[in-house]
Amino acid sequence: MVSYKDIQASNALINDATAPRVAVFVGGTSGIGKFTVRALVATGASIRIYLVGRKSSEERTHAWIQELHAINPKAEVIWTEGEVALLAETKRVCEAIKSKESRINLLFLTPGYAPFGPRAETAEGVEIVQSLEYYTRILFIRHLLPLLSEAEAPKVVSVLAGGLEWATIDLDDLDLKKPGNFSSLKTQTQYGAMNTITLEKLADDHPKVTFIHSWPGWVSTGNVRRGLGSSWMMAWFVWLILEPLIGFFGFSGEESGQRHLFQCTSAAFGGRGVPWSGKPGINSREQLGDGLFLVNYNCNCTPNAKVVPVLRKNAREKVWDHTEDVLQPYL
Ligand SMILES: NC(=O)c1ccc[n+]([C@@H]2O[C@H](COP(=O)([O-])OP(=O)(O)OC[C@H]3O[C@@H](n4cnc5c(N)ncnc54)[C@H](OP(=O)(O)O)[C@@H]3O)[C@@H](O)[C@H]2O)c1
Repeated sequence: MVSYKDIQASNALINDATAPRVAVFVGGTSGIGKFTVRALVATGASIRIYLVGRKSSEERTHAWIQELHAINPKAEVIWTEGEVALLAETKRVCEAIKSKESRINLLFLTPGYAPFGPRAETAEGVEIVQSLEYYTRILFIRHLLPLLSEAEAPKVVSVLAGGLEWATIDLDDLDLKKPGNFSSLKTQTQYGAMNTITLEKLADDHPKVTFIHSWPGWVSTGNVRRGLGSSWMMAWFVWLILEPLIGFFGFSGEESGQRHLFQCTSAAFGGRGVPWSGKPGINSREQLGDGLFLVNYNCNCTPNAKVVPVLRKNAREKVWDHTEDVLQPYL
């Protein structure tokens, strides 16, 4: 475990020289993304943040951006509207950012939730949560990789389930479309594994960029309420049992934000960034150096060595080819 004291000490070293100068946050309008934006702004460093969010969150986010400017006048936080459940919208947002920037140091991805109701699709025919937790995240990365590759200490952080992969990914129905094949648990294991497989492939192809798939543990953000369907039994379970448990045992927003800021900036993962004298992290191939890091809530690297090699061998090519097919119209 990386102690909270060590994380705070590392984050205290973030300044104009070490901060990610240009960052893109997708999902930074709530929860872990929002806590991490705040922690980054509070370093006082000179930074520019593109805060991507949907229209329905615009008003409250504008008010919050004013607060952020008061905390750090050197931080430029740019509201960037986009309905990122739609891949065409993700493409449009990326084109807008690419027209303004030539380098991006940090891409931080958190949109999504566990759906407890039936399968529901976007207007583009993609299951909504799979779009938020997988396709739109990969599409952001694919569009912004050229800019990340040009930047100093570039990082991509996808917050979902790094280290929790199961080998039983459903390769015959990657989008969980077959009748009876869609459930809350299955979406989270399927989309989590797809994140790891594809992030590792992208990391292999782009060794100058450090990739992290983070599992945040429990953080009380209201996330479990988002996917509630019409089942009153599930609603009562969430309100009476799950949310109080998360509130009691989970991380505070402040600590979660600091822990994710550490993942965004520390050289502990891949050697680039704020110098780290502690134990260096190992990647998804159990090696030091570049690549994909599966990082848990304590900021430990958890390569999941029994499962990830199986996924690499059995699932990587199929997941990549299928993802290419889905994303092709939007690349
Ligand atoms: N919190 C936990 O304990 C925990 C544990 C394990 C994994 N996770 C996963 O980690 C990720 C981040 O969690 P979190 O707690 O920070 O989540 P959160 O607070 O619920 O924030 C989720 C983000 O997704 C956006 N979003 C939700 N539905 C959307 C839609 N239909 N279209 C566009 N954007 C949408 C939200 O935008 P708005 O602000 O506009 O609503 C928000 O920015 C999620 O994928 C979550 O499932 C969380």
